Amino acid sequence: MMSDFISLAQIEEARAAITARITYKPRIALVLGSGLGGLADEVQKPQTITYDAIPNWPVSTVIGHQGRLVIGSLEGHEVAVMQGRAHYYEGYSMAQVTLPVRVLHRLGVDTLIVTNAAGAVNQSFEPGDLMLITDHLNLIGMAGNNPLRGPNLEEYGPRFPDMSQVYDRAFLDLARQAAKQQRLTLREGVYVCLAGPSFETPADLRFLKAAGADAVGMSTVPEVTVARHSGMRVLGISGISNKANLDGNTLTTHDEVLEAGHKIVPKLTLLLKAILQSI
Ligand code: HPA
Repeated sequence: MMSDFISLAQIEEARAAITARITYKPRIALVLGSGLGGLADEVQKPQTITYDAIPNWPVSTVIGHQGRLVIGSLEGHEVAVMQGRAHYYEGYSMAQVTLPVRVLHRLGVDTLIVTNAAGAVNQSFEPGDLMLITDHLNLIGMAGNNPLRGPNLEEYGPRFPDMSQVYDRAFLDLARQAAKQQRLTLREGVYVCLAGPSFETPADLRFLKAAGADAVGMSTVPEVTVARHSGMRVLGISGISNKANLDGNTLTTHDEVLEAGHKIVPKLTLLLKAILQSI
């Protein structure tokens, strides 16, 4: 299936397949990014569905994305954890990339916690750092590839949704408090989403820095745009996997991104569990 737009019937087909296989009613969903899937192992009494068993659901082709929906209990909440995600650069349309968020909403999820691996444009950030996403630059969207392009799904939200407070302010405060409580350093900043899959040139990075970006990646913004369209509350955390190469003297590789994940997962797990305890 290579459709530019997704219909309610396709969303419903996916929802029905999931509902038939689970006994939970999750209200919170987590999306785990590149190399960050380890948190799904913390889910108690999991009911697991592989993405290829869900009609219309995009299957990730990237190493570091397990491609499973893990539903169960985490810190007293019924949660749905996406262990891996599909990206635009894999050839999926924006509508396909964001179909899971539509389906999760249909399942009753009203809170979306997104994570990703990102390069540090802000040169004071180090690999292994966690960054709370306070806002984003929707560069692909600005260039015409917004996931809400096409017929508006009126059942979900308005044609022209507001994006002034994408990252829920109460959640930002909860995350800051949770980091303090766990004695974790939590950076904050603006995430910019590019199409990928090539990494940035030094000139790209200088441009992104001048535009106000602190971290750069290839995901998240489409999903949260769709989540906000339907009024979901959103929290976003980047795991800084590498320093972006502003001077052109170091190389960036996917292996480096996955390697940093090993360092990030334990901290991210502590932080997210503490946040879930206070939601
Ligand atoms: N650039 C873009 N995407 C990324 C990077 C990066 O440096 N690191 C992890 N994802």
